[in-house]
Amino acid sequence: MSKKIFSGVQPTGNLHLGNYLGAIKNFVELQNEKENECIFCVVDLHAITVKQDPKKLKKNIRETVATFIACGIDPAQSIIFNQSMVSAHSEAAWILSCVSRMGWLNRMTQFKEKAGKDKEKASIGLYSYPVLMAADILLYDATHVPVGNDQKQHLELCRDIAQKFNNDFDVMDFLKVPEPLIQKQFSRIMSLKDGIKKMSKSDPSDLSRINLTDDKDQIINKIKKAKTDPLPLPSVIDNLTERPEAENLLGIYSSLKNQNLEKSLMELNGKNFSEFKEQLSEILIERIMPISQEIKKLLEDINFLDSVLLEGSDKADKIASKKMKKMKELVGF
Ligand code: AMP
Ligand code: TRP
Repeated sequence: MSKKIFSGVQPTGNLHLGNYLGAIKNFVELQNEKENECIFCVVDLHAITVKQDPKKLKKNIRETVATFIACGIDPAQSIIFNQSMVSAHSEAAWILSCVSRMGWLNRMTQFKEKAGKDKEKASIGLYSYPVLMAADILLYDATHVPVGNDQKQHLELCRDIAQKFNNDFDVMDFLKVPEPLIQKQFSRIMSLKDGIKKMSKSDPSDLSRINLTDDKDQIINKIKKAKTDPLPLPSVIDNLTERPEAENLLGIYSSLKNQNLEKSLMELNGKNFSEFKEQLSEILIERIMPISQEIKKLLEDINFLDSVLLEGSDKADKIASKKMKKMKELVGF
């Protein structure tokens, strides 16, 4: 059955292997199922929930579009657009924030992580960010939302918000309750420096992640320096408990090879970590280098990237403003 797919990525720079394996690779597979309608959003309104340098933000918006295209999203087939160019997102977010409950938002773990110790100093936007995310999804009647594991709680909240709006305004199925699409395996890629921390754009150490713009030498160097433990490479899955770094590297390897952990362990049986790391670097170079080279090429043609956003935003605006009009009528405006 055909699906309506919606997902978003923040233009906050340093798009990395976690973004690719946890989300963007899945976007491309869903698009290639042909019968699906796919919409991918560069969520710049989300990015400004923490302070951004305006010049860098503009550069990162274009870099995100270039990354989408370099990874295989085809603007002729899928809508690629910019959240701030479609005003319905901000409007819907306000209405939905009047439906959402404080208690629901207080439970969001990502806010707690991002706000740090001094929550009083966090922006209101950072707190209400999941409501904007719900607006993004619900405006397009998305049926499925591909995301990494860290967005699972936000998706559950989106479902609650949709149901409450439908209840409050006595409209059975006006807002469609979406399904999350989270990969069963390897949906959370961890830092190369610490296997219990998520691979993240904001980690101050560049050695903690493989960026999608890294070149061959950077990839080799980062994998060489990636943290491991003193034990030999395991031959069965059970031996991976309490070895997060080994599990993460093996997960990355398996995900890139589109195979399960068992198969990888069998394949690598008898190898030591340094041999495994060489093999991991090889497959990373094979998969990431074409993306990295294409991103660099696309970034030389800013006019093309801007035209993709403009055209995509025009198409998105047509869908979203129609939904917004009905939403306003239901509210009594
Ligand atoms: P963000 O960069 O936070 O906008 O995330 C874009 C997409 O990448 C979301 O679907 C995230 O869930 C996913 N993602 C981000 N970091 C990781 C990671 N370390 N492992 C797996 N997926 C991730
Ligand atoms: N919150 C998501 C993240 O940080 C990005 C996002 C914004 C999103 N709106 C969305 C993802 C809608 C899926 C659907 O990764």
